[in-house]
Amino acid sequence: MDRGSSFWPPLGLNLLLLLLALPLGSQAAAECYGIPGMPGLPGAPGKDGHDGLQGPKGEPGIPAIPGTRGPKGQKGEAGTPGFPGKNGPMGAAGLPGAPGLMGPPGEPGEEGRYKQKHQSVFTVTRQTVLPPAQNSLVKFNTVITNPQGDYNTSTGKFTCKVPGLYYFVHHTSHTANLCVQLYRDNVQVTIFCDHMSSNRQVSSGGVLLRLQEGAQVWLGVNDYNGMVGTEGSDSVFSGFLLFPD
Ligand SMILES: *[C@@H]1O[C@H](CO)[C@@H](O)[C@H](O)[C@H]1NC(C)=O
Repeated sequence: MDRGSSFWPPLGLNLLLLLLALPLGSQAAAECYGIPGMPGLPGAPGKDGHDGLQGPKGEPGIPAIPGTRGPKGQKGEAGTPGFPGKNGPMGAAGLPGAPGLMGPPGEPGEEGRYKQKHQSVFTVTRQTVLPPAQNSLVKFNTVITNPQGDYNTSTGKFTCKVPGLYYFVHHTSHTANLCVQLYRDNVQVTIFCDHMSSNRQVSSGGVLLRLQEGAQVWLGVNDYNGMVGTEGSDSVFSGFLLFPD
């Protein structure tokens, strides 16, 4: 509207200018052909043209400089897990645990060896027609029972191996007056004397002794030494453990 107003003045003014420009000589012609029409209105703008042709290929870019580092890329995905590492050094020992529950009672044990361990018995006999020497130890030279070997027929002495209470007893045949002594470690404990009133007699004696290990017991005679040991006239010496300590 504004452009139309500036280029195309109002219709009445244009007609007046045209009439003033006509020469006088052509006044007749104007009278013949009439007045020219008014100029038409400007046309509408045309449509857009087609796309132009593709331009020429551009020149090659500047070559990259080898060795230069490009921009940092994006973070890659995580790799597969590696092999397990070696065992580390052993750690310090832990605190001891609490004690466990008490177990069930065990089966009864085997029978003890009390009986075998605490035995000591012997009976020995003196087999000789010769009487023992006066005032000497009497050796009983033959074993009847001596399973532990506590009576030594070489020395004529009993040696205590199991401490406890022992009983010793002797039965002696004699053809002359006889006194039988029982010694414990060189100390006379008992003495039994019998004077002859017939050809052959038997006398006896016995005693309980508490013995410590290593104590020794034997029989002896004083100057009454008529002890014999012949067939039909035995002289025996016995001892046995009653109660071990
Ligand atoms: C008996 O005593 C003798 C002399 O001490 C000794 O040599 C011998 O080994 C003893 N015998 C036994 C069976 O102990």
